[in-house]
Amino acid sequence: MKNIAVIGAGAMGNGIAHVFAQAGFKVQLIDTNQAALTTAIATISKNLERLVAKAQIEDSQKSQTLENISTFTSISEGVEYASLVIEAATENVDLKLEIFKQLDMACPEDTILATNTSSISITQLAAQTSRPDQVIGMHFMNPVPVMQLVEIITGYNTSNSVLDFIVNLSKKINKTAVVVKDYPGFVANRILMPMLNEAFETLYTGVAGVKEIDRVMKLGMRHPMGPLELADFIGLDVCLSILEVMHEGFKNPKYAPNPLLVNMVSAGKYGVKTGEGFYDYSKDRKAVNVASQFS
Ligand code: CAA
Repeated sequence: MKNIAVIGAGAMGNGIAHVFAQAGFKVQLIDTNQAALTTAIATISKNLERLVAKAQIEDSQKSQTLENISTFTSISEGVEYASLVIEAATENVDLKLEIFKQLDMACPEDTILATNTSSISITQLAAQTSRPDQVIGMHFMNPVPVMQLVEIITGYNTSNSVLDFIVNLSKKINKTAVVVKDYPGFVANRILMPMLNEAFETLYTGVAGVKEIDRVMKLGMRHPMGPLELADFIGLDVCLSILEVMHEGFKNPKYAPNPLLVNMVSAGKYGVKTGEGFYDYSKDRKAVNVASQFS
């Protein structure tokens, strides 16, 4: 396997492209938005430079990694020679269903189709294709070059040979694969999102402020980021969409997204990517007074 296509050049897509290219694979990074591709290459270059500065890689490895990545604005051109495609588009069911239909038509018959979805059913995506046995979840964590885990999700029809292949491939990019089954939120978000939602609820009900909630979890539980800071980092729109998938999938009110989260997303406050969420990222990072949203 040499050619790996990655669909979507956002934070997850560029991180996935980075780790495969650094491990020596040829990566075709695909996004319909040329500006997103340009930003992705600049981000990968900056992250590689960080590794050069820390003497973790040579300058020549940085250049080789960048040379291993080519960019495309059309799916059909980018996937022509791909043995594996990893879809990392926006977390939206309809968009992903459409992409899987297109991938099935455009990819060679033996291409494995993986998705980096955080919560959407692998089985549902696989059903859009004529090769459900070759569809699998490969859920990376953000920031991809730093985080050790790749959560591997088997759909209802995923074959054992495809599973073995993807687990071995994960080792080649220095990740640890953990295999789980295909139920809403899988394992990572099934456990993470209720914790974040409880932090939103704690803030919403006025038990403590943004900084206090984050400080308790950082200093008290040794979490690298507090839950509100982490939610901003993941994207509040992504958190909302994952909670909605779990709420809908299990029909259990415990997954109902907190109204403050819903309001913030409606107001366009998605966290780091829009410059404001629970914190303001425009100048000095400051906690935002969200109390006005519910008082
Ligand atoms: N790309 C590459 N490397 C990065 C990076 C990035 N975007 N951001 C940070 N790093 C590297 C730094 O170079 C540094 O490396 P060294 O230790 O070798 O020097 C290391 O990561 C730590 O970085 P910093 O010192 O700058 O900052 P930090 O200590 O505050 O760590 C962090 C930053 C790694 C992001 C840390 O805060 C952390 O682990 N946060 C939690 C992240 C997390 O929980 N991710 C999972 C989110 S859930 C998800 O992704 C799944 C989903 O479906 C929602």
